[in-house]
Amino acid sequence: MTIAPEHRTLLTVHTHARGKRSPVTCRLKCNDACLHPAPNESANEYFKDVVSSVLSRRAMLGTLAVAAGAVVIGAQGVGAPSAVAATLSEGRFPGHGAGRGLAFGAIDPQPADVDALVVPEGYTWDPIIRWGDPILPGARTFDPNNQSPEQQAKQFGYNCDYLDILPFDAGDEHRGTRGLLVSNQEYTNAAIMFPPTAKYWETDAAGNVTDKKNAYARAIERAAHGMSVVEVRRRAPGKPWSYQRISPVNRRIHMDTEFVVDGPAAGTDLLRTVADPTGTRVLGTMNNCAGGTTPWGTVLSGEENFNGYFKAAGANPTADARYGITATTSYGWEADDPRFGGGAGYENEVNRFGWIVELDPHDPSAAPVKHTAMGRFKHEGANVTLSRRGHAVAYMGDDQAFDYVYKFVSKDRVAKGDSRWARAHNKSLLSEGNLYVAKFTGDSPAAEIDGSGAVPSDGAFDGTGEWLPLVVDGASKVPGMSAEEVLVYTRLAADKVGATKMDRPEDVEISPVTGRIYVACTNNSGRTPGNAVEGPTEPNPRNHKVVNGVTTNGNRDGHVVEIIPSGDQTSTRFTWNLLLVAGDPAVEGTYFSGYPKERVSPISCPDNLAFDAEGNLWISTDGAPSSSAIARCDGLFKVPVTGRERGHVQQFLSVPAGAETCGPIVDSRDGMVYVNVQHPGEDGTYAAPQSFFPDYVAEGAPVEAGDFRGPRPTVVQVYRTR
Ligand code: FEO
Ligand code: CA
Ligand code: CA
Repeated sequence: MTIAPEHRTLLTVHTHARGKRSPVTCRLKCNDACLHPAPNESANEYFKDVVSSVLSRRAMLGTLAVAAGAVVIGAQGVGAPSAVAATLSEGRFPGHGAGRGLAFGAIDPQPADVDALVVPEGYTWDPIIRWGDPILPGARTFDPNNQSPEQQAKQFGYNCDYLDILPFDAGDEHRGTRGLLVSNQEYTNAAIMFPPTAKYWETDAAGNVTDKKNAYARAIERAAHGMSVVEVRRRAPGKPWSYQRISPVNRRIHMDTEFVVDGPAAGTDLLRTVADPTGTRVLGTMNNCAGGTTPWGTVLSGEENFNGYFKAAGANPTADARYGITATTSYGWEADDPRFGGGAGYENEVNRFGWIVELDPHDPSAAPVKHTAMGRFKHEGANVTLSRRGHAVAYMGDDQAFDYVYKFVSKDRVAKGDSRWARAHNKSLLSEGNLYVAKFTGDSPAAEIDGSGAVPSDGAFDGTGEWLPLVVDGASKVPGMSAEEVLVYTRLAADKVGATKMDRPEDVEISPVTGRIYVACTNNSGRTPGNAVEGPTEPNPRNHKVVNGVTTNGNRDGHVVEIIPSGDQTSTRFTWNLLLVAGDPAVEGTYFSGYPKERVSPISCPDNLAFDAEGNLWISTDGAPSSSAIARCDGLFKVPVTGRERGHVQQFLSVPAGAETCGPIVDSRDGMVYVNVQHPGEDGTYAAPQSFFPDYVAEGAPVEAGDFRGPRPTVVQVYRTR
């Protein structure tokens, strides 16, 4: 079903020569990461050099057969969550039995210029909250022509990414009729946020408005970053939510919010600045991408492309180069605040970003925390499960071409219940523990991994793996680096121990049914034939594709890795295989776990992952509209990961022109799905929008109070019409 007014305009999306996204997204979101050489030039052990260490095919099949048994016996099986874990991590949203499920017929993929949110027959959608909607006392009805820093700080922020709706009461098991909506606000796009007037833009000598933001606009940008917490209510489960404009729990986190830093690197020389000689208090969070909700009901948020906000200080050129911190910034905030400029006294300011943040949405007075024990890199997000004995185990991706997948295991074990003591204890779990990085080894001859995506002769991209220790029991396991150096310069540490370079690992999600772990590798335009960094490897097997005789270099469509722990979640050994090698199933070099391709929806650039209670994986995408991908709007896709339906990708929804799909929540008990629609109409301008989502105000029609004739990043709920 297409939900868009008749007057909507079909738009042309710009073609971009490099990378996967629009040039605007690249500039603002990741500081043109794909236009620069990959910052990982480390000489890690290259997959093709280690084939001698692989298992025989017979041995691998035996291993996988054992793992398959774990699927059959479910939560009792190898790698499955313990009873404690099941209670804590699944118990909040048990999902089984009561609901009507989420049966649907796959929608057709939408051309990249369709400015509509498309959902299956039998479903409809509504916004829950949009950029600019007021959430704090003193916030006026959104008026895009009169934005101010003060108003923005009281409104829902821009470019929503991670999303969850928690039960309002921390002890409740399921979303009832009252919830706590928590969303990241990743980055801003001034060109479509601010009208072309001197209020927001500098003027030249002749008095003409330029395309250079002024300080007022930059202050609004800082207020539009961060996170939002908003109370939502509904009549009954399965019915749509409304957000509460006034609630004691509503909250905005932005660049002026004070954070506590904890863990082994807190207070060390590497985190001290002239403004914070304690090295334990930081103002703000930025580029908050994906995240995760912990079994104890807090929300984690990944500080991703923080490098685009800071000028290199020159104090550590090696680290600056490895993290992509340069002499220029994407935002120009250094004109307003010296901490972004890398000047004297602020050399370490950049070290205070790039962390996993933990927010307790149930306690509006609690300062959010940056956890240094979980390492510093371009954090996509973090998802937590519990080991059999109750240790918190977090899986994390570093979203850059040729970067790594990480795992954190807490020192302490989770406490049951929701007592004040238990909540405080559980909120300390991510403050101390062991940090690992993944090494993947393939089991097929290197010659069979030819970069085309063709499956090797043993029938699978698969092999064994190891979690390489970085910090264990508080001690560095990396030669020449202290524990605090490992945690602040985690990329450099991971380079040294020989981690496996992956194709932009984004979300890493754990199946609540089997305990298997799934890694979305979104794409890598830099993994090309002849690339000096690294060629195709079995876990990243594609470096080109051929469509209608035309060759496109790079892994443009991404893939999904399945990790099977060799025992408990704390195990340092695993086996792995590729669940999907994404793309148009009609094109050679795609793989859907052997499922018949003619029944598979085209899918490209997997990004955020979620599970429903039945154990189906749901994948949201970011980059599919690119002409080098599948040239379709991004969307949300369901794929079973066990049984005969394994690999059967079906598209559930499609987002409007220019947007990516973020933060999926799939609630099969309530029969509802939620997504964050991020950066609709990204390539447009305020005067010439390229999307009108979600208000779809007709040209020339009166604009109702609070609406906008232009694109607004929006939290969307999808629910049944019958
Ligand atoms: Fe913000 Fe890795 O996407
Ligand atoms: Ca193989
Ligand atoms: Ca993402």
